[in-house]
Amino acid sequence: MTLRNGKEFLMIPGPTNVPDEVLRAMHRPAVDIYEGPLIETTEFCMSGLRKLFRSEGQPYIYAANGHGAWDAALSNTLNGGDKVLVLESGRFALGWGEAGEITGLEMEVLKGDWRLPVNPQAVEDRLRADTSGEIKAVLVVQVDTASGAWNDIAAIREAMTAAGHDALLMVDTIASLGCMPFEMDAWGVDIALTGSQKGLMTPPGLSFVLAGERAIKAHET
Ligand SMILES: Cc1ncc(COP(=O)(O)O)c(C=O)c1O
Repeated sequence: MTLRNGKEFLMIPGPTNVPDEVLRAMHRPAVDIYEGPLIETTEFCMSGLRKLFRSEGQPYIYAANGHGAWDAALSNTLNGGDKVLVLESGRFALGWGEAGEITGLEMEVLKGDWRLPVNPQAVEDRLRADTSGEIKAVLVVQVDTASGAWNDIAAIREAMTAAGHDALLMVDTIASLGCMPFEMDAWGVDIALTGSQKGLMTPPGLSFVLAGERAIKAHET
């Protein structure tokens, strides 16, 4: 005899449990992708993403997991051989840098302690020392899932400004967006990204990138 224990509740950082309301909303036939309601839905999602990230920037939606968003952020703004400074606070910050390395970027790790958030003073010191502007982007995770460390993004941007460095600030909010405050424009973030399967409580398989003005400019040059 099969014993049924009822609904299974996943107790991991993500994928999170998808609410019944969302599951029910998915039970609908395919629609025309060239006109009609899907266009309205897409526009609704785009403006919703701006609200979520708290940004007037350009949203992008990818049929990819968070790794795909990592890749999109890096490959659309940087060139082969560019150096990225990875602010270590757990496994995911390093993972993002490693993903960049695979595609030909140079990765430098600003060593951190997995029990602590990134130290903004250390960021400022490292960037001040980069007098030739070799570092093109700073990569940081708002909440580094594996360690639980959460980073003060506004303080990191202030450190970059204090150092007078113009690297792009890229933030992974995969484990944090929708769960805690994030102010992309007010904090001076150039690119932020997230996935569908955590704070947004929708099925895995989509990821989202929000690009600010400086990121768009980097893409165009
Ligand atoms: C902070 C963070 N970044 C990136 C990822 C990778 O996302 P994905 O598994 O969707 O590729 C995860 C996944 O757990 C994560 O928690």
